[in-house]
Amino acid sequence: MAFSTQWAGAATLSDVKGLILSGGAGTRLRPITHTSAKQLVPIANKPILFYGIEDMVAAGITEIGIVTGDTGPDVEAAVGDGSRWGVNITFIPQDEPLGLAHCVLIAADFLGDDDFVMYLGDNMLEQGLDRFCHQFLAERSGTDEAPAAQILLAKVEDPRAFGVAEVDATGAVVGLVEKPEVPPSDLALVGVYLFDKSIHEAVRTIEPSERGELEITDAIQWLIDAGKRVRHEILDGWWIDTGKKDPLLACNRLVLDTLASRIDGTVDDESVVEGRVVIEEGAEIVRSRVRGPVIIGRGTRIVDSVVGPYSSISEGCSLTRTEIDHSVVLEGSTITGIPRVTDSLIGRWVEVGASDAGAPSTRLLLGDHSLLEL
Ligand code: G1P
Repeated sequence: MAFSTQWAGAATLSDVKGLILSGGAGTRLRPITHTSAKQLVPIANKPILFYGIEDMVAAGITEIGIVTGDTGPDVEAAVGDGSRWGVNITFIPQDEPLGLAHCVLIAADFLGDDDFVMYLGDNMLEQGLDRFCHQFLAERSGTDEAPAAQILLAKVEDPRAFGVAEVDATGAVVGLVEKPEVPPSDLALVGVYLFDKSIHEAVRTIEPSERGELEITDAIQWLIDAGKRVRHEILDGWWIDTGKKDPLLACNRLVLDTLASRIDGTVDDESVVEGRVVIEEGAEIVRSRVRGPVIIGRGTRIVDSVVGPYSSISEGCSLTRTEIDHSVVLEGSTITGIPRVTDSLIGRWVEVGASDAGAPSTRLLLGDHSLLEL
């Protein structure tokens, strides 16, 4: 494959494929993930997964494979064939969550001998993929020193929950270890990787880890042991693994801060809308205050309420006599008469209401793994 090495905007990534991993059980986001993929939870009313796809599209990648798990049909229905982004999307079902390197193994036919960028579908990065990809391509102009892989590293306080890299004084990656008890450095592996075809032999050769998964970290270590060069980049900007509620809410705040204000819905004379606010078509704001950054989805009604700051209310919701801030509410939910909802993630078609005035008890119907802080 021939690459252009002049990456200042001119190089094309159309020969590089994209692989997005969108399987996994999402156990840390239950109960939301009992009925939906964690990668489809919205950030600023857009599924997390779409940000990864859009980063690839912006970098010029046109062939994208998405590895799916049990929630595959939902992911396929949400994403479609890629035509809305002008790219081709191929879905690759994974029967069991056997690890990130296993995803590469089952995507072998899709990937062929092409270079590819692999992106964990629940990771969100501030930086795009453009520069990351082009730096790799620029060094792959056929010399013996051409890197076989490139990883993205971020300094973190507690690296034990991540893959951790060791980098020598010359900047070469000399070792990688998955979730070590005693981390060799504070450099965690961010969920974005670039590989050439040599990764296929690596994923075929490594053995499952103690957690029973084929680890991509072990596959990259295999490349190093085989004498291949692994490049690294240090992350620029924020990075969030959105797999838990609080990081997800933090990510929502960061993305809301970047929205361009737009009011396509209706706001009555008795309402106040201030700051960075998106109100989608068909949404109605009645006798309410919306304090940006906030996004309000299509057809949602906000009545006698205060929304924001830092809240995303999806489409088809209804909020009445309620104050909510720093929260994410998914499609079709109703919240009535709740004086203050904060730091909350509320799923689809949820009904939250106040008990009758003076009622001595709280009445609940909560799904498995619900979390309630009253
Ligand atoms: C995976 C990788 C790990 C990486 C992390 C980034 O971990 O195995 O090396 O640091 O993603 O989010 P997992 O999400 O499977 O625990």
